[in-house]
Amino acid sequence: MNVSPASTPLLHDVDEAARRLTQGQIVAFPTETVYGLGANALQVRSVARIFEAKRRPSFDPLIVHVADIPAAERLTTSFSDTARRLAEAFWPGPLTLVLPRTEEIPDLVTAGLPGVGIRIPDHPLARRLLEAADCPLAAPSANPFGGVSPTTAQHVLDGLGGRIDGVLDGGPCRVGLESTVVSLMDRVAVLLRPGGLPVEDIERIVGPVRIASSDPAQDDSAQPAPGMLSRHYAPRTLLQVFDGPPPESAPDSAALLTWGHPTAADDRFSIVRRLSETNDLHECAANLFAALRSLDAGHPDVIIARRFPNIGLGRALNDRLQRAACR
Ligand code: TXA
Ligand code: MG
Repeated sequence: MNVSPASTPLLHDVDEAARRLTQGQIVAFPTETVYGLGANALQVRSVARIFEAKRRPSFDPLIVHVADIPAAERLTTSFSDTARRLAEAFWPGPLTLVLPRTEEIPDLVTAGLPGVGIRIPDHPLARRLLEAADCPLAAPSANPFGGVSPTTAQHVLDGLGGRIDGVLDGGPCRVGLESTVVSLMDRVAVLLRPGGLPVEDIERIVGPVRIASSDPAQDDSAQPAPGMLSRHYAPRTLLQVFDGPPPESAPDSAALLTWGHPTAADDRFSIVRRLSETNDLHECAANLFAALRSLDAGHPDVIIARRFPNIGLGRALNDRLQRAACR
């Protein structure tokens, strides 16, 4: 269903958004991580419209959002001890658990896989929406497939306006990176996607987590998450990642995406986006996607981006930079 961008309304009323969802419409809503494009997870026709609107390949499974732990338990045949400990520690929050699915969940939602990704979002509007709609909501990030995830309602309209039935406006997202995805399909927990919950926090609860390699040749015991293509979360502009001071080979016309205190070496670039002046990785995460979008809109020849320390949220930040840099 293609209509003019103006025909996607910005909604301010949770009940109106919930009504549309229960009628089978697809509506974007805010979470603490990024905006999701929601549909009733148990209605195949509505879920199919998500894939159509995002132009998303059907091999890429959707995360199912629920209001509370009992609702999560209803979607899985095995809510293990590990699942319970992680859920109690981090839900609501930026953690998706992949658990054995029940028959009730349409194949389209899980891309035919035996596991279903589930999370409870930590955003007051998302929680109220789940309660009012009274159904699990399948929701990928509300952007065209492969693009940068939206952290404001306007970002959603920019990418999907005219293709979806509404956007519930909840202001900018607090975390700014997608959820951390952990599979509990095997005996050991496997990290499928680094995200808004640092893996160190997870390991404090369940011990060592196996990291799924993005190169199956390196580690065939833990495949990366389906749908995690190397090029993803990507702006249109060429992006290059650097360590330390900006490389001298970078042209002055490059746009600089950086963090930390301003340095003399930064001054020669005409366009500079500083994600945090205080090396605060949370602030960097909250600002990253909006900065990538605004740099992209200025059409620089190239964006050069400073790598983050590989700890805490830095791992997920580096993962997104790396994927944005892939050609
Ligand atoms: O923070 C988030 O996770 C946001 C908000 C809206 O919740 N959602 C999000 O969804 O980022 P999406 O579709 O853009 O990314 C979901 C990824 C999939 O591409 C896949 O890698 C993994 O999560 N995933 C989902 N369901 C899975 C499953 N059943 N088995 C394995 N991986 C799964
Ligand atoms: Mg996405």
